[in-house]
Amino acid sequence: MLVDGQPYRTIWPHGDSVRIIDQRHLPFRFVIAELRSVSDTATAIREMQVRGAGLIGAAAAWGMWFAARESGGDESSLRRLAETLFATRPTAVNLRWAIDRQLAAIQSAADPVEAAHASAMAIAEEDAQACRQIGEHGLPLIRAIAETKHDGKPVQILTHCNAGWLAFVDYGSATAPIYAAHDSGIPVHVWVDETRPRNQGARLTAWELSRHGVPHTVIPDNAGGHLMQHGLVDLVITGSDRTTRTGDVANKIGTYLKALAAKDNHVPFYVALPSSTFDWTARNGITEIPIEQRSGEEVRWLDGEDAQGEIIAIRLFEEHSPAVNYAFDVTPNRLVTGLITERGQCPATEEGILQLFPECRAGRANSGT
Ligand code: MRU
Repeated sequence: MLVDGQPYRTIWPHGDSVRIIDQRHLPFRFVIAELRSVSDTATAIREMQVRGAGLIGAAAAWGMWFAARESGGDESSLRRLAETLFATRPTAVNLRWAIDRQLAAIQSAADPVEAAHASAMAIAEEDAQACRQIGEHGLPLIRAIAETKHDGKPVQILTHCNAGWLAFVDYGSATAPIYAAHDSGIPVHVWVDETRPRNQGARLTAWELSRHGVPHTVIPDNAGGHLMQHGLVDLVITGSDRTTRTGDVANKIGTYLKALAAKDNHVPFYVALPSSTFDWTARNGITEIPIEQRSGEEVRWLDGEDAQGEIIAIRLFEEHSPAVNYAFDVTPNRLVTGLITERGQCPATEEGILQLFPECRAGRANSGT
């Protein structure tokens, strides 16, 4: 996508290293950071310099290129380095998917470093292309709603957190149909949930949409239900960090409440995801998907820009009040109107999903494409 007229992806190789957009500084500063090792990559994922399911997978893939270099052909050292990457964040299944794919590529190669490089390139490119296809498959949904509107009124879409191009290598999942609609001249307006505690909606989704010229408004997390009751939301599209083979969706904390409000107000609730985000081994999202718990300090402290343009951190409440920080929740499939994948739309049911991905009937790890 374009940043000030220049095309960027979120991660790319640069000589012996890998470059990323360091998302901790957005929207106030646009900072490119350099990763040179497994340790740099693990830190970048854990500290959320890179985040979002697809990008976590792509970063881990490049981390495995470093692992192939650092292990010097020693199998147990390679596995230890893979575990270092795997331990960074538990919920987005793209992490395990990318690491396993890299291990298979490295172990069967005459030149493991070269193989890991080629495979990381392929994983990143497939991620971008899957998101582009999600855009194509989601576009008819938005177009159909636009056709019911009069006087050029925009299609009102609510999204949660950041499932935009910053969460992937390019295009995004939830945002891909939105960008496709906007680019084809359909008027859209996006309600952007701020997404406490780290505010990926306010900080990242709003930044992306504004760079691309998509009309949007940031709302407090609690406002969505009210907007839906007043007919101000036509459609919800979110992303996913892990979706079971039965269609239960783990996504950023607060997604479940939006799905409940959408159901109560007859607003369609869609989830956009590439197949690398399916966990083909899991059937029950609530009992089987590990939910990351991050530091309560992310709830207590907020950082942002002061009136002088300085980045400062402020404490929101007293030290002696404990804070808890569950990063994700699970939306049961009964609340999901449909899924948008790189192969098309389907109901959030095991049969619906397997119609699109028949090769995963037997429950193998991931479809790959
Ligand atoms: O904690 P994050 O920022 O890595 O969370 C991921 C997200 O941004 C959302 O949950 C998103 O909707 C799914 S990732 C494409």
